[in-house]
Amino acid sequence: MTEYHFYEPANGHRLPHDPTNAIIAPRPIGWISTVSPAGKRNLAPYSFFNQFNYRPPIIGFCSTGWKDSVANVEATGEFVWNLATEALAGAMNATSATVEDDEFVLAGLDSLPSRLVKPDRVAASPVHFECRKTQIVQLQTADGADVDSWLVLGEVVAVHIDTAMLDDGIYQTARSIPIMRGGGPTDYFAVREEAKFQMRRPA
Ligand SMILES: Cc1cc2nc3c(=O)[nH]c(=O)nc-3n(C[C@H](O)[C@H](O)[C@H](O)COP(=O)(O)O)c2cc1C
Repeated sequence: MTEYHFYEPANGHRLPHDPTNAIIAPRPIGWISTVSPAGKRNLAPYSFFNQFNYRPPIIGFCSTGWKDSVANVEATGEFVWNLATEALAGAMNATSATVEDDEFVLAGLDSLPSRLVKPDRVAASPVHFECRKTQIVQLQTADGADVDSWLVLGEVVAVHIDTAMLDDGIYQTARSIPIMRGGGPTDYFAVREEAKFQMRRPA
């Protein structure tokens, strides 16, 4: 019979490390560029990130605490998502530093202007989504107490795809080797074609 390690998170997990974000893993990375109302550029990775709607496309990231990215989206209503790839792993990581500098410069990343929004795009990233804020939702506990975490949702209003990622117009997910966040302080996964399997939904 399977033995389970059971715990109620509110009372502690009794393990060396909190396992939840090693279990809900690997997670795609929201590499988010924003600008402050004064025009200062910001770039940071968020692995509490996903797409939540297909049409219109709505994506979101969650900020643990009121960080610069959420403050900038609240103030300007705009952000850009950049695809983090294996080739950009070190630069992506460098942009998570808590600094006042421009993280594009800090990480040695060239930028490209966006078409519909102010934040710049990471030039070396093969896909960019320009987004307009739809909602910023403060998270709550089951008892309704406020949590200092902020889910930032935005409609994707413009998409840029490096055409080298397309075969006959079909986007090749693994071609850029996207990186995903695992658990613990250091674990990541790289998405390669070998990891793919196919299955159809029941009719
Ligand atoms: C791969 C990775 C994923 C991260 N995911 C999150 C996240 O989901 N939420 C969060 O609040 N911070 C996350 N961080 C930490 C932020 O990137 C970091 O606090 C950063 O300084 C925030 O920048 P900002 O204040 O300019 O928005 C992550 C860091 C890394 C390296």
